[in-house]
Amino acid sequence: MSDSCAIRTRRASTNGSASAWQRHARSSGDDGLIGDESSFLAVEVDEGACAGWVTWRSLGSSENLEIGIALFPEYRGRGIGTEAQSQVVHYLFSTTTAHRLQAGTEVDNVAEQRALERVGFRREGVQRGLYFRDGLWRDSIMYGLLRDDPSHGE
Ligand SMILES: CC(C)(COP(=O)(O)OP(=O)(O)OC[C@H]1O[C@@H](n2cnc3c(N)ncnc32)[C@H](O)[C@@H]1OP(=O)(O)O)[C@@H](O)C(=O)NCCC(=O)NCCS
Repeated sequence: MSDSCAIRTRRASTNGSASAWQRHARSSGDDGLIGDESSFLAVEVDEGACAGWVTWRSLGSSENLEIGIALFPEYRGRGIGTEAQSQVVHYLFSTTTAHRLQAGTEVDNVAEQRALERVGFRREGVQRGLYFRDGLWRDSIMYGLLRDDPSHGE
């Protein structure tokens, strides 16, 4: 069974690993966490603990959006990433006119690929050499979910 979580516009931290989140939240400012170009919400668990964050950003003039997520290590593998991304999808399709949401992840990030597929995203293809990390160019897998995809809302 997965832990429950909520995506919220609030600052919450319970341990040292949350410092990156606090720095980012301070620099964004409370009123700037949801913006026209990019947005940033905490993933809250355990009545206030910050498990990580979700983001989304505009893709040019199309009104379509790219989402992202990062959980602190101690919160991974408990169903929180799947639930948080499900909530982001619901929130964005409910409050924006976006027709398409997309997300990219490295080819060896099985947890994110499974989480996206669970939420209804479809694997669309490989983008070669998209990221440079730890001395290597990494391939990325692109996932997409359309508002009228049958998998949306399953
Ligand atoms: C990727 C991430 C968001 C996934 O969230 P999570 O809460 O850890 O994942 P969940 O517990 O919801 O599990 C999702 C699926 O991945 C599987 N999974 C979880 N951890 C895994 C691991 N280390 N290896 C392989 N599969 C894994 C789960 O079994 C589940 O699959 P299932 O639905 O078939 O049972 C989270 O691990 C994370 O923040 N990682 C670091 C940052 C990152 O990679 N961000 C995303 C891409 S940039």
